[in-house]
Amino acid sequence: MGISSKNTESFGRPLNWLVFQLMTSLLITTVSKTCETEGWLDLLESSEENDSSNLVAGSAPRPLFAASPKHSTKTLDKNPFIQAVESKYFVDKTPMIIFFHQQTKPILVTAPRYFGKTTNLYMLRNFYEILVDESGVEVDKNHTENRALFAGLVKRKRASKKTIFRDEKWCDEQMATHPVLHYSFENLTISRVMNFLKSFQQLTARVCKEHSYLLKSDRLSPANITLLRSYCDASASGVTRQGLCASGRDMSALLAAFFGRPSLVLLDELDAPILRLLTNSIPDAEMREILAILKEFSTELFINNPAVVDRAFLTGNTELSTIVAPSNAVHLRFTQDEEITPFFGFSEWEMDNLIRDSELHDRDIRKYYDGYRGQNSSEWVYNPYSLRHHLIRQYNGVYWSSALPLETFTALYKNSEFVREIFENATKTDATEKEIKVLGPHIFPVEEKMAMLREMLAKAKPVTSIAQKAVFVDFLYQLGYLTDKTQSRTKPDRDFLVIIPNKEVTEIFRQYCQKMKA
Ligand SMILES: *[C@@H]1O[C@H](CO)[C@@H](O)[C@H](O)[C@H]1NC(C)=O
Ligand SMILES: *[C@@H]1O[C@H](CO)[C@@H](O)[C@H](O)[C@H]1NC(C)=O
Ligand SMILES: *[C@@H]1O[C@H](CO)[C@@H](O)[C@H](O)[C@H]1NC(C)=O
Ligand SMILES: *[C@@H]1O[C@H](CO)[C@@H](O)[C@H](O)[C@H]1NC(C)=O
Ligand SMILES: *[C@@H]1O[C@H](CO)[C@@H](O)[C@H](O)[C@H]1NC(C)=O
Ligand SMILES: *[C@@H]1O[C@H](CO)[C@@H](O)[C@H](O)[C@H]1NC(C)=O
Repeated sequence: MGISSKNTESFGRPLNWLVFQLMTSLLITTVSKTCETEGWLDLLESSEENDSSNLVAGSAPRPLFAASPKHSTKTLDKNPFIQAVESKYFVDKTPMIIFFHQQTKPILVTAPRYFGKTTNLYMLRNFYEILVDESGVEVDKNHTENRALFAGLVKRKRASKKTIFRDEKWCDEQMATHPVLHYSFENLTISRVMNFLKSFQQLTARVCKEHSYLLKSDRLSPANITLLRSYCDASASGVTRQGLCASGRDMSALLAAFFGRPSLVLLDELDAPILRLLTNSIPDAEMREILAILKEFSTELFINNPAVVDRAFLTGNTELSTIVAPSNAVHLRFTQDEEITPFFGFSEWEMDNLIRDSELHDRDIRKYYDGYRGQNSSEWVYNPYSLRHHLIRQYNGVYWSSALPLETFTALYKNSEFVREIFENATKTDATEKEIKVLGPHIFPVEEKMAMLREMLAKAKPVTSIAQKAVFVDFLYQLGYLTDKTQSRTKPDRDFLVIIPNKEVTEIFRQYCQKMKA
């Protein structure tokens, strides 16, 4: 069975971040007007962690380690979800937990960068994770920081009407019920297979070490402990490719043996290495080897696993994520799958509430930051990252950046008239000129699309055929540079019409074209 799919220009981030820090610390002391907001979590995605860690040492969000014996390291262990909850611009997306809870298969959500994937992933972790002390003894789940965090949402009256904590009984039953395996592919190196294996081993070792309390357990056999020890050692030379691919599966088995419960598996930034492969000159054979290893890892973990993985949340920017996702994953796309879009974007209503909260009345922000739209929906969706940064700085600027900046396409811009036209049309003022019509059919297997994109990006093959145009435009769409103009994509083999979503993205194109002409 295949993947089911229903088918910077920023003004110096460190400064933003500092302003953000100052603002939040000032604003936290002011009385914030209470209002029912429904929906959106304020965003801090992984790249922002990097920015913040550059500036304020010690305040970078880090995962709440399962094995962490302390539960009061308030400043050190703030992951993006906790930061969001504590932010003035928090919008409650906890109803996503209920949606997620109802799923019976791994969920792969793809959305452009900075649309809340990592934040929501941490929300799930904070909700479901069984916290243990360093010797593996479960912390009383009524008295964990996680419990206080979610309970606090209701008390602060900042929660959605549908917030899960209105149903305390359900939460009592469901909170802290799973050990968590949390991987992020964000920083995997792909320059050569050897380097990749090294960085993948470091990643798996880091995840195993979060569960190092298992080493002391008498519920595991000596053979289990030996295995675990080898996985925890990032420099172990004895770990084979096969062992690496089996490590997720084995970890979930050991956790099941220890807790008597299935794991929650979180795989963040699934396509980060794939997007890097698109522009890298690594030989094709090595590229295929890297993809095969990642695919085998997820197949072992989700398909060939006798220990049950009860729930799984996977994220990525584009559909290329499906190349390494397990075959039983259900792929849901931002704007194209309406049931998940509200969890990853700001509605008009949510924006209104935030503005009311912050006493800003700048109607221009609509032009700048909304405009993302689902196929069947007449409702606009705001870019939540940019909106929040606008509220902090009170300035209509460019805050968002895509996972692949326009510079990635420079060779194409230079030698492909079609690409140059798209970029230059994007800067025009007349809306109809910004429309891009692409002729169908554009259905190919995703591996084939990746090969086409790699030809264009790594080898600067001009975009000329109808198929290439369709694949290229769809890729820009997935990266967040374009959105649906019409509802034409309900039939995937028809023409589709896309458009630049808003003024912020127009400005990104404008600045880029200016640079190219200079
Ligand atoms: C990726 O690397 C950056 C820079 O070192 C770091 O700040 C970030 O936390 C890393 N992300 C993950 C998921 O480890
Ligand atoms: C993290 O920050 C460093 C230093 O500014 C930068 O070189 C690196 O590219 C950043 N990494 C990511 C993933 O943004
Ligand atoms: C936790 O709280 C629930 C009710 O909120 C109660 O039924 C349960 O006994 C408590 N558990 C412990 C270990 O105190
Ligand atoms: C753990 O040890 C038991 C008994 O030796 C064995 O049956 C099981 O396969 C081991 N689990 C893993 C994940 O290796
Ligand atoms: C959009 O509407 C069409 C026709 O009603 C339906 O077949 C399709 O599944 C819908 N798409 C989404 C994403 O809801
Ligand atoms: C750019 O705009 C012109 C004029 O509206 C239009 O004819 C052309 O098709 C557009 N190019 C693309 C690639 O959409």
